[in-house]
Amino acid sequence: MCPPHAEVVAMPVDLRSDTVTRPTAAMRDAMARAEVGDDVYQEDPTIKALEMRIAGLLGKEAALFVPSGTMGNQLAIKVHTRPGDEVIVGALSHPVLYECGAAAALSGVSLAETRGAFFSAEDVRARVQPNAYYMPRTRLVAFENTHNRGGGRVWPLGLLDEAVREARSHNLATHLDGARLWNAVAATGTTAERFAQGMDSVTVCLSKGLGAPVGSVLAGTKSLIQAARRLRKMWGGGMRQAGILAAAGLYALDHELPRLHEDHARARTFAKAVAGMPGYEIDVETVETNIVNVRWTHKADVRLALEMLRDARVLVSSLGPGQMRVVFHRDVDDAGLGRAIESFETIGKLLGMVSS
Ligand SMILES: Cc1ncc(COP(=O)(O)O)c(C=O)c1O
Repeated sequence: MCPPHAEVVAMPVDLRSDTVTRPTAAMRDAMARAEVGDDVYQEDPTIKALEMRIAGLLGKEAALFVPSGTMGNQLAIKVHTRPGDEVIVGALSHPVLYECGAAAALSGVSLAETRGAFFSAEDVRARVQPNAYYMPRTRLVAFENTHNRGGGRVWPLGLLDEAVREARSHNLATHLDGARLWNAVAATGTTAERFAQGMDSVTVCLSKGLGAPVGSVLAGTKSLIQAARRLRKMWGGGMRQAGILAAAGLYALDHELPRLHEDHARARTFAKAVAGMPGYEIDVETVETNIVNVRWTHKADVRLALEMLRDARVLVSSLGPGQMRVVFHRDVDDAGLGRAIESFETIGKLLGMVSS
């Protein structure tokens, strides 16, 4: 019971990212019961089970449990390249924006961004450096599916296949950053294996929409994973009884993967409702998964809108001037969705009055 006069403060509706989820009681229970061993000795049965399961889902020979998606991507870049090489990546992709310049620092490579987040065979062709001794050697093409800054959109299969084929025709390696590949699978019904077809390496995350507290998995050939295992140790990522973390991943594959479509449905409901409100612009048709990019159209600074949303206990992230990002996940239910829509409406109207 509340003491008299106690103020009841609503829990925030946290829409900043799908990484903010907290493990459920059932997931924690699975973690507590996990059989473990020393994984640096390769003796943790739960980690082995997770690695085998994900390798199977992606149609690859082997897999490696790593602490983060960043480490998975960076291990892949390191294994595929030599210092001085160049990697073709989509515009605004994760290694360009959010991995602390690790590709340059750890692998000594440069990143050549294409014009768009999604790119064609022609874009790959245009980006491959000519074979001249004074130019960087293009070595790898990295794809991001779904594309985080691209509003969680899914790569169209035809476009993806053509770009992969083009990369292969230049003897380039291919890597898929599938931090949210599960969302692409849930949105399209296309299997993870199909999206991973033609990729030499794939990273998937367990700590985004799947709600695990930690963990990503890098998959590829046995020899690629052997090389990555050595590098993971070198970079301080060798873990011991981390089966308790892998158990969260296994639990998530069974119990969280099947519910991702609920996040997508809420994202779409939100987008449809807010697209018609003063102050906001959303391309509803581009909302394919759990991420909604929102353009702020009032003259008032978007930072003011974000502050007012925060005061209303609705947290969203800024994507720079005039842009917000709203992400749905397992810890946002219909009541949270309703509160978010109401707050957007109130703040859009209020700031419309002061900025007109
Ligand atoms: C597309 C993409 N790749 C990689 C990562 C990195 O994952 P982590 O935060 O586990 O390093 C993220 C994180 O949000 C991401 O969105």
